[in-house]
Amino acid sequence: MSQSSSEIPVKIAGTGSYVPETIMTNADLEKLVDTNDEWIVSRTGIKERRIAAKDEFTSHLATKAAQNALKQAKLSGSDIELIIVATITPDTLTPATACYVQHNLGATGAVAFDISAACSGFLYALKLAKRMISDGAYKNALIIGAEKLSSFVNWEDRNTCVLFGDGAGAAILTKSEEGEGAILSTEMGTDGAQTSILNIPGGGTACPTTSANVGENLAALTMQGREVFKQAVTAMRNASETVIARAGLTTEDIACVIPHQANLRIIDAIVNRLDISREKVFVNLDKYGNTSAAAVAIALDEAHRSGAFKQGDHIVLVVFGAGLTWAATAIRW
Ligand code: UT7
Repeated sequence: MSQSSSEIPVKIAGTGSYVPETIMTNADLEKLVDTNDEWIVSRTGIKERRIAAKDEFTSHLATKAAQNALKQAKLSGSDIELIIVATITPDTLTPATACYVQHNLGATGAVAFDISAACSGFLYALKLAKRMISDGAYKNALIIGAEKLSSFVNWEDRNTCVLFGDGAGAAILTKSEEGEGAILSTEMGTDGAQTSILNIPGGGTACPTTSANVGENLAALTMQGREVFKQAVTAMRNASETVIARAGLTTEDIACVIPHQANLRIIDAIVNRLDISREKVFVNLDKYGNTSAAAVAIALDEAHRSGAFKQGDHIVLVVFGAGLTWAATAIRW
C-alpha cells in the first residue's frame, strides 16, 4: 500500500554489494555439460557468474556486502537495530544466516533473522524493515539478499547450472527527514499453487537427505523454465504498474528500473510491455547470472554507484521467483 500520513517515512541511506572473486565463464561450463556460449548468451544474456570458495559461506558474502553498505551510510554495526537476511541458501538450516552476520558486524544490539522468499526475498525484507521503522520500533535496519547458489545447483543439469551464481547485496534503511527520499509504495504477491515449477525438492522435511538418497542430487534447484518465464513477465509487469500508480506517478516519471536479473529476454519483454525506454533499465546479469535474492540488491548497489539515478529521481525495483513470489517497490531517491 502507499504510505499513510501517520507513518514515519523511510529512506535507503546506503547500499553495498559483494561478489566472490572466482569467475566461471560460459566456456568453463562447456567443459561440464553439453552447452555452448552461443546458446547461453542468446537464451539468457548471461556471459559469466561468480562462484564462492568452499570455505566462503552465504554469511561471509552477506557480511562483506553489509560492510560496504554501512560504509556508504557512514554507520557501524553498533548503530544497527534490525538485520534481515533474505536467502534460500543459508549457512545452516538453523540458526539463521542473519545471526552469523550480526556477530561478524559486531551489531550486538540488533535483532536478526532470515526470510525465505527466493528471488523476491530482498523486496519482502525491504517492506518488512520499512514497516518496523515506520511504526517507530526501530531506527536503523540492515537488509541483505545473499546466496551461495553454487552449493544447490546440479552441475550435471544443463537446464539449470548455466543460470545461477553467488553474491550478496545490502541496503541500510532509516527514517527519512523532510526533503529527503522515501520508499513510496510496495506490492507483493504469492501463488502457492505453483510451488512445483521452481524448487529445491530435497533437504527439507518433505524429502530429508538420507544415506540412501544422498547421490540423487535432490537438494538442487529444478525449474520448468518456460512456465516460469511466462509468469515472471506478467507478474513483474503488473507489480511495476501497480507501484508506479500507487505512488501517483507514470512510467515517464521513472528514471531507472532495476529488475530481477534472471534472463535478458524476460527483462526485454517487461520493458516492451511497460513502454519504458530500454536505457532506463539496469542490467548486470551478463556478469553474475541469477543470484536469486541477491540479484536486485547487487543491481541496486551497482546502479546507485554508477550514477544510473541521482537524488530526487524515482526508481522502481521489481522481482519474481520461486513460491511463486513477486514484488515491486517505487522509491524517491
Ligand atoms: O529466478 C527465478 C526466475 N527464473 C526465471 O525467471 C527463469 C525463467 N526461464 C528462463 O529464463 C528460460 O526458460 C530458460 C533460460 C531457463 C530456458 O530457455 P528457453 O528458451 O525457455 O529454453 P527451453 O527450456 O525451452 O529449452 C530449449 C532447448 C531444449 O532442447 P529441445 O528440447 O528443444 O531439443 C533444451 O534441452 O534448449 C535446450 N537446452 C540447452 N541447450 C544448450 C536447455 N538448456 C540448455 C543449455 N545449453 N544450457
